[in-house]
Amino acid sequence: MKWLITGGAGFIGTNVAQALVCAGDRCALADNFHRAGARYNQQYLRERFALHVDFLDVRFPDQVNAYWQAHHDADVVLHLAGQVSLVASIHDPRYDFDTNALGTFNVLEATRRLLPEARVIYASTNKVYGDLRALCVTEAATRYLLPDFPGGIAEDLPIDLHGGYSCSKGTADQYALDYHRVYGLSTVALRQSSIYGGRQYASEDQGWVAYFVQMGVERRTFRISGCGKQVRDLLHVSDLIECYRAIARTPRESLAFGQAFNIGGGPQSSLSLVELFPLLESEYGFPMQYTSGPPRTGDQKVFIADIRKAAEYLGWKPTVAIGEGLEELVEWSKSRWAA
Ligand SMILES: NC(=O)c1ccc[n+]([C@@H]2O[C@H](COP(=O)([O-])OP(=O)(O)OC[C@H]3O[C@@H](n4cnc5c(N)ncnc54)[C@H](O)[C@@H]3O)[C@@H](O)[C@H]2O)c1
Repeated sequence: MKWLITGGAGFIGTNVAQALVCAGDRCALADNFHRAGARYNQQYLRERFALHVDFLDVRFPDQVNAYWQAHHDADVVLHLAGQVSLVASIHDPRYDFDTNALGTFNVLEATRRLLPEARVIYASTNKVYGDLRALCVTEAATRYLLPDFPGGIAEDLPIDLHGGYSCSKGTADQYALDYHRVYGLSTVALRQSSIYGGRQYASEDQGWVAYFVQMGVERRTFRISGCGKQVRDLLHVSDLIECYRAIARTPRESLAFGQAFNIGGGPQSSLSLVELFPLLESEYGFPMQYTSGPPRTGDQKVFIADIRKAAEYLGWKPTVAIGEGLEELVEWSKSRWAA
């Protein structure tokens, strides 16, 4: 199988590329190296797997069309390229819109014209559901709770776009689904929760698990937004890759296409910040020293994905326990720090 992957030098793209190549698949990897760390991932893929990452900026249709023409034999389009930070989207809304909304439109248009048989996986986000302020949230000793959603948030919750990143990703999500309705493309929009694992060059603004692990490894004092009871469901990147592969194997006539799926670790793999810190302290001896600032505007107090629809349509479920996934991330963070 041949995969065309945008954002191929990003955290998820690098992990996907190495897994696919090890499984015998082929991939064309493209990225504009906007993200700090993308060049390190490019070098890693070249040195370890002899994989080349081509320059491509999805904001420009001519570049996208030329790349699609060069890879017109691809079976799967995995569209990961994106501006990934809510904070950055507020500082530079045009780059955010041009990359996430217009860039996805360019990818869908090129696919419609040049790769109409390909399966198209769009990496959307749980941020399309907004800040969830309308839902009842209660507070326990170490975490916020959504008592009306014990199984997590399902896809039938209306989308509610808040902030640049949410608006641009939500626009792209809706276009991806509409290209199935209108043009019959085999698209899915995966509304991903917090993905974690090695090769994520995280920052204070994005990739919270990797960021806090890095702070622990480097024994640095850091700042958190809010009281630390915010909850997310965590999904190790290797489980996400299995989800992508399940979609690639799904027959084109399947009812899965044209659908959105919430993809995360689900209720079994949820953690708050103040639950993560003692875990890192006791397992790895990290001194998790931090100060607290005001909550971030538009931040969800709790998001836990209900992943039952993905199990039903795609036969997919996560398998990596948090302890196991953290082990891999900690090892990578240590090696990064040592380098
Ligand atoms: N990591 C998560 O927890 C998470 C959660 C939900 C959704 N997502 C989505 O998954 C996708 C991949 O996320 P990631 O964590 O690997 O992020 P990442 O930042 O590591 O990877 C994104 C890649 O896109 C590239 N890029 C940025 N602008 C581009 C442009 N104009 N043209 C081409 N390439 C461009 C960056 O250089 C980067 O390598 C993103 O679209 C993100 O919104 C990620």
